[in-house]
Amino acid sequence: MKNMDWSSLGFGYLKTDYNVRCYFRDGKWGELEISSSETINMHMAATCLHYGQEAFEGLKAFKGKDGKIRIFRLEENAKRLQSSCDGILMEKFPVEKFNEAVIKTIKLNERFVPPYESGASLYIRPLLVGTGPQIGVSPANEYLFIVFVMPVGPYFKEGFKTTPVCILREYDRAAPLGTGTYKVGGNYAASLVPGQKAHDMGYSAVLYLDAKEKKYIDECGPANFFGIKNNTYVTPESTSILPSITNKSLIQIAESMGMKVERRQVPVEELSTFEEAGMCGTAAVISPIERIDDLNEEKTYTFSKDGTPGKISEKLYRKLRAIQYGDEPDPFGWITVVE
Ligand code: PLP
Ligand code: COI
Repeated sequence: MKNMDWSSLGFGYLKTDYNVRCYFRDGKWGELEISSSETINMHMAATCLHYGQEAFEGLKAFKGKDGKIRIFRLEENAKRLQSSCDGILMEKFPVEKFNEAVIKTIKLNERFVPPYESGASLYIRPLLVGTGPQIGVSPANEYLFIVFVMPVGPYFKEGFKTTPVCILREYDRAAPLGTGTYKVGGNYAASLVPGQKAHDMGYSAVLYLDAKEKKYIDECGPANFFGIKNNTYVTPESTSILPSITNKSLIQIAESMGMKVERRQVPVEELSTFEEAGMCGTAAVISPIERIDDLNEEKTYTFSKDGTPGKISEKLYRKLRAIQYGDEPDPFGWITVVE
């Protein structure tokens, strides 16, 4: 792509050439279809519009020094979409077809994959929505799966620098036995008001606590949480957080670097014991946390004083990026090379 300033890209929608679609009608998924339209035509009573019957995914592809395009954890994202489908009674999209659709969309938009040197990547957004009409609250009998892509830079404009995060105890993102473990739109709708408030006050994200007791850390708006102490990677276990594929990967990387890993309930007060803290996710990669302000309690937990990420966060970040861009081997089998 000529005239593209790859290295100043942020995280936002950009039109690319094609998207790939697939329809579920008459009890079966059809063939993959290529479209150059940015819009969807659908019934006004579609279940995704009224009852939130929709789920999405987020994954990335990276161009290596060798010019090859690598997709990070394709299969895991395909499986998580299936889990989201089970969670809100949507027709599951087959894993094989998901993989094929993602690869096809990348190839069709190859000119938008940022060059290696830019440090940017191609964000892939698969989406599955109930399109069949219902006016009673029940699942649709027709669905649309669609994949589109766009080149992106860092989710938080600061990139790999620390930012402040806040706890807003008057809001919950997801209920303990609700839909927090699925990547469905309703969870994000619930996070818009607190997210806006946090941004207005200069925070990059909200750190949610468990909704029932407000005792334990859940996750951040768009990312999981981790803390580091005594060479241990600590990350919350909860029934209301998204099982982050980045977090899962960092756990394996941490173990391979000889760190201990603890996945368990993390009481809020434990924040005072962490040497480093961060948010992790596909969009966020690792976003190190400067400090966490528990606003209602008027408490502050500080992890960095000068914007510098902690040493272990940086080591994890470098290793993850090296695998994603193909600078280092992929001992875990996470990469799909686009042939
Ligand atoms: N938590 C939430 C609420 C998210 O939206 C995301 C983003 O996908 C994550 C965590 C991180 O998950 P992953 O690492 O699979 O992208
Ligand atoms: C992602 O990291 O892929 C996300 O979906 C986070 C956010 C953009 C919703």
